[in-house]
Amino acid sequence: MNEKQIDLVQASFEMVRPIADQAAETFYQRLFEIAPHYRSLFKHDMKKQGAMLMSTLGLAVGSLKNLETILPAVRALGKRHAGYGVTAEHYQPVAEAFLWTLEYYLGEDFTPELKEAWVAAYMTLAGAMIAAAEEEAIPA
Ligand code: HEM
Repeated sequence: MNEKQIDLVQASFEMVRPIADQAAETFYQRLFEIAPHYRSLFKHDMKKQGAMLMSTLGLAVGSLKNLETILPAVRALGKRHAGYGVTAEHYQPVAEAFLWTLEYYLGEDFTPELKEAWVAAYMTLAGAMIAAAEEEAIPA
């Protein structure tokens, strides 16, 4: 990601931050619409889950310019996701639901350039999570 993309992602996250709870709810609604069978992966309270998702995303987005500082936490998150039954294939529909949600709330502000920047941000995070989870799967 270049500097401009990071600035775009950070500024747009600030626009949804005040409505984070609502955005999280919309995100899960959309996710379960496009991938109904993912619902069974979630065992706990979805409101709390949504709050955790948004606060973690906020931290990650805020650290895009110095990713190395949060890489250990992102990798640990990826390993925990493997424990929740999440595989590499699950990350694509989640990306789609997430981008859909951003577009829903940002409307015309969700420009193709911003979308591209978010795709890059998501791929950076998801890539690190998936890589860590896959390393875990290799027997010592
Ligand atoms: C950038 C990508 C993602 C982020 C930032 C993220 C964030 C989180 C966070 C913060 C939690 C709370 C528990 C913990 O910290 O371990 C969590 C739990 C969980 N996430 Fe994710 N997640 C991501 C991708 C995914 C994907 C692709 C799936 C697949 C459907 C998924 C499914 C789950 C499930 C099943 C749980 C546990 C829910 C429960 O215990 O009820 N996540 N996620």
